[in-house]
Amino acid sequence: MRSIGYQACWLWHGSAPVVVQFGKEASQSAPLLRRKKRDASRGSPRSFTAQRTLAQDDNQTAPLLATRIRLLLQSKSTMGPSSSVIVRPARNIAGQLTLPGDKSISHRYAMLAAIAEGITRLANFSTGADCASTLACLRALGVKWEREGSTVRIHGRGPRLSAPVSSLDCGNSGSTMRMLSGILAGQEFTSELIGDESLSRRPMARVMTPLMAMGAKLEARDGGRPPLRITGGRLKAVDYKMPVASAQVKSAILFAGLFANGETIVSEPVRTRDHGEQALAAFGVEVKHQGNEARIEGDQKLRAIEADIPGDISSAAFFLCAAALFPGSQVVIRGLVLNPTRARLLDILILMGVGISVTQVEEQHGELRGTVQVQGGALNGAAITGTDTAALIDEIPVLAAIAPYTSSGIEIRDAHELRVKESDRIASLAENLRAMGAQVKERDDGLKIPGCQKLHGAEVDSFGDHRIAMAFAVAALRAEGETNIRGADAAVISYPDFFDTLESLAQR
Ligand code: S3P
Repeated sequence: MRSIGYQACWLWHGSAPVVVQFGKEASQSAPLLRRKKRDASRGSPRSFTAQRTLAQDDNQTAPLLATRIRLLLQSKSTMGPSSSVIVRPARNIAGQLTLPGDKSISHRYAMLAAIAEGITRLANFSTGADCASTLACLRALGVKWEREGSTVRIHGRGPRLSAPVSSLDCGNSGSTMRMLSGILAGQEFTSELIGDESLSRRPMARVMTPLMAMGAKLEARDGGRPPLRITGGRLKAVDYKMPVASAQVKSAILFAGLFANGETIVSEPVRTRDHGEQALAAFGVEVKHQGNEARIEGDQKLRAIEADIPGDISSAAFFLCAAALFPGSQVVIRGLVLNPTRARLLDILILMGVGISVTQVEEQHGELRGTVQVQGGALNGAAITGTDTAALIDEIPVLAAIAPYTSSGIEIRDAHELRVKESDRIASLAENLRAMGAQVKERDDGLKIPGCQKLHGAEVDSFGDHRIAMAFAVAALRAEGETNIRGADAAVISYPDFFDTLESLAQR
């Protein structure tokens, strides 16, 4: 099999006090931005001869990639198509940005818009291929939508969707497969959900068990791997205690609860992100939630909404951590989601000695957003365990990637779930950190990474995992020498613009 690889010639341009301020505009470093523009005019990229289309059924993401990610054909491995990016060290990180809409919120708003009455307008919808998978599945279920720039208009069908004529392709997106299952469990037809190689390895029993208890019929391969076949219909309410902390499963059960007789109750072992509860409320559904429990009555009507989706904090994490690596960095991110069940990273960075200020806080549809300014300075270590592990589950890859540069290292525990993400993230992180010369202790449920280590540039792998690709681009900024990230195009799953944006912020 021929692989597509690419080497991009990126045009790199080149203990703080804890400050949390509300209601005051964060300042911007204009001279740094001017220098970045000047540097950009000094060189031109090497030629790029191929482009790879990654989004499914979404004519927006692919052209975006075409201009943003440039591929040079190589013919080397038998591993299938992949790409690589070389990242050179930086002096610091500076600039201001707004990020594409949060992936977790985009998925949920799109799915609920499909079963709502009226037309929902979602500005700043996620540009990631994962949310494009959700939109493609909805289209296959008879839902009409249009996308213009970053705005998506979804024509709600009310509770009844159409039977799809072929399998629903969820691509790489566990969120699409698990959360859509909740809605499909309430439909009077059979559907089959499929995914790529990575998704086909991921556990679905966690969503099958509660949905079967509600009366839907679900079948999968090998005790719960996709393809997932669902025959839905009228459901009965359950009181379900989730054995695994998963916001996707919680949302799936609540979505299924809309199609059930009576009150569905779901409780989770530790609190996870509450975007599902907030989104249901935004669409006019009454959801009672208190502590680790949420309740929903069946047969409630959903009303279309207009929303401007706040920026994705899990994407921002890469820039926040990159800035934290260098005293003198200053990055301002506007309109970032600050939902307290999602923003634990800011607390952890503050505890690590990074200067963070939050201003311009506002709320829409129950979701807080604001401007976050980060200033590099001290970088102490941290221990991430228990409820923190669940709250930081998508930010752990980048925290682990910067751990060797901290003064006392980072220890991560209670993170078994990282083994069943887009890759086995514990193994991926350990392997790449070692390739860059770091000492790492790998455990079943986490990692212990000592601090005060010097890393060197190396060949690392994304393992097909977007967050691993982006995490090692950040680690590479403070390494000695260049780092080649194989399979870097995995970043399109959540953030197609990532490498361009990092390029525009890095000072050399
Ligand atoms: C998500 C929940 C988390 C997270 C994923 C998005 C969500 O997954 O890792 O990227 O939007 O609910 P789990 O529910 O599997 O923990």
